[in-house]
Amino acid sequence: MKKIFAANWKMYKTPNEARSFFSEWQKSHFKFNSNNSEVFFFPTALSAESVSQSISGLNLNWGVQNAYFEKEGAFTGELSMNHAKEMGAAAVLVGHSERRTLFGETNSMLAKKNSWAQQTGVTPFYCIGETLEERNQEATLKVLDRQLREGLVLAKSEDALVVAYEPVWAIGTGKVAEAPQIKEAHLYIRSVLDSLGFTQSQILYGGSVKPETAAELIQIPHVDGFLVGGASLKVDSFQKIIGSI
Ligand code: PGA
Repeated sequence: MKKIFAANWKMYKTPNEARSFFSEWQKSHFKFNSNNSEVFFFPTALSAESVSQSISGLNLNWGVQNAYFEKEGAFTGELSMNHAKEMGAAAVLVGHSERRTLFGETNSMLAKKNSWAQQTGVTPFYCIGETLEERNQEATLKVLDRQLREGLVLAKSEDALVVAYEPVWAIGTGKVAEAPQIKEAHLYIRSVLDSLGFTQSQILYGGSVKPETAAELIQIPHVDGFLVGGASLKVDSFQKIIGSI
């Protein structure tokens, strides 16, 4: 199975900045092996068109960071997955921890988003992960179990779906989880996914992934790629992460 390298640009990079990023990318003549790797960019919705145009011919994919679970309607300010699909989006982040904590997204809402993404033909990247408090209470596996079972209850195991494990305490903190912690979590997620029939779903690790740590982390069993925030904003550092396999 191909490794997945995904860039979560959060609320960074204007359309012009996104264009500059890809012109630098092009000038770098960077090549990755598309037989064993896939690369996704998740820009802001307003920079999506500029990303979609800029990556043409570069063998890269893009997606949106969030979208609603209805095709269309009276949902002022929301983003339609169908519109994203029409623009060429291949994927959508579902339930990133910032959506869960800052915007109140719940497992049951995310279950609808995962399902609607699949129905629209946009691959959901379903994000899960425990807080520091939950880890300290030794509740990590229980939390992951719940996020998986509740969030995937409407999803179809035969349709594409990717899971991203991102310990909340490791996101944007520079504090990457330790190898045994990642190993335990990924092994557990794999077993739950398999028991639910999602045997083909890949599991990404996210949380302060950097070029210096990527080569070691990618060797951990059941780490099928990365979801990268901060280190994906610079061409050079994200390319080094992609080059870690
Ligand atoms: P980070 O973000 O790499 O900056 O920790 C990861 C994410 O939020 O997806």
